[in-house]
Amino acid sequence: MPQILTVIGARPQFIKAAAVSRQIAETQGLNEMLVHTGQHYDANMSDVFFDELEIPHPAHHLGIAGGGHGAMTGRMLAAIETLLLEVRPDIVMVYGDTNSTLAGALAAAKLHIPVAHVEAGLRSFNKRMPEEINRILTDQCSDLLLTPTATATQNLLREGVPEAHIVECGDVMFDAALHFGRKAEADHAGPARFGLTPGQYALATVHRQENTDDPIRLAAILDGLAAVTRDLKVVLPLHPRTRARIDAADLTDRLEALHIIEPVGYLDMVALEKHAAVVATDSGGVQKEAFFYEVPCITLRDETEWVELVEAGWNRLVIPNDPSAIHQAILEARGTRGLDIAPYGSGNASGIIVDRLERMLG
Ligand code: UD1
Ligand code: UDP
Repeated sequence: MPQILTVIGARPQFIKAAAVSRQIAETQGLNEMLVHTGQHYDANMSDVFFDELEIPHPAHHLGIAGGGHGAMTGRMLAAIETLLLEVRPDIVMVYGDTNSTLAGALAAAKLHIPVAHVEAGLRSFNKRMPEEINRILTDQCSDLLLTPTATATQNLLREGVPEAHIVECGDVMFDAALHFGRKAEADHAGPARFGLTPGQYALATVHRQENTDDPIRLAAILDGLAAVTRDLKVVLPLHPRTRARIDAADLTDRLEALHIIEPVGYLDMVALEKHAAVVATDSGGVQKEAFFYEVPCITLRDETEWVELVEAGWNRLVIPNDPSAIHQAILEARGTRGLDIAPYGSGNASGIIVDRLERMLG
């Protein structure tokens, strides 16, 4: 039976793989082996997703986390190569743009094993982002480029990727939002579990390296969010990277006005997103989820890969270096709506992906 080997390691990849793995499991004649690199390892950054999204337990856990980008990616590359030589899969599947993505794609390409990249073609055109380097190189190594949007497809065509290698399948996170969102649908108690009233809070997430590793930006974001609390509670599920950088930059006092919680599972996160008055984030996934649940969003970055949402007015970019600009943008966004658009496919990206894999491997 054709063997798919899937490499995942970071929080958003568990959510994306949950949608596709479910579809593969329902397809006769395909076998999937999950490999967890270990990049995210806290229970609330990893195990919780396997449990609540019913993702099969990984066949291999490489236990590789931390260190610089080169050290982490290098250790993953060596360990994945060893595994690929043992397993000899027919295809390697990778998701998104993390160090785990690049290590999986590069290890496979060097062994002449075909690579399928889910979420191919996204570009921020900012090479200072580690994710941008990971995406470009992963796309270069890939044989099957599964794009979430028309913009992503156009980016690849412009870079000279042959059209025959590209499948515009839509966004697997939309599949996940539809499937698991139904589970969270009736959960009006979600915000109350965190001491919040539906519609009466802003939900914030911050973890991007360019925001957390620059103490000026980090302080501006925390001060901007703190100013919002004069009108609206702000809940911030704190990413471990951000917590570490806040401690290191001696900024813990800036958290006092905020409602800080530990990172939450996906179903709790969906409940928090659905009932938020406004979302402020630097996360790729959270930008889109705000749109799926029709909640206005402020993105705390210089640019975004998900340009459709900015163009349609669902999302507004705010360069996060000025607390008062952040404060004002969040309060102004409340109650706004964007244009009626559907840029992320039909909610069946996983079906299209699996269909293509079946044809390729059959
Ligand atoms: C990674 C991805 C980023 C993605 C994000 C999703 C890269 C280059 N970055 O960023 O694209 O958007 O995941 O959340 O791959 N840590 C813990 N516990 C954990 C995980 C991380 O304490 O379970 C801490 C460690 O101090 C670690 C730091 O967070 O060194 C950064 O983790 P890392 O995986 O390197 O990058 P992220 O910022 O999580
Ligand atoms: N998420 C979650 N719990 C949290 C914060 C985020 O389940 O405390 C989910 C969120 O709903 C989205 C995904 O994690 O599906 C986004 O991951 P993240 O922001 O870590 O990475 P990015 O999308 O920026 O790569």
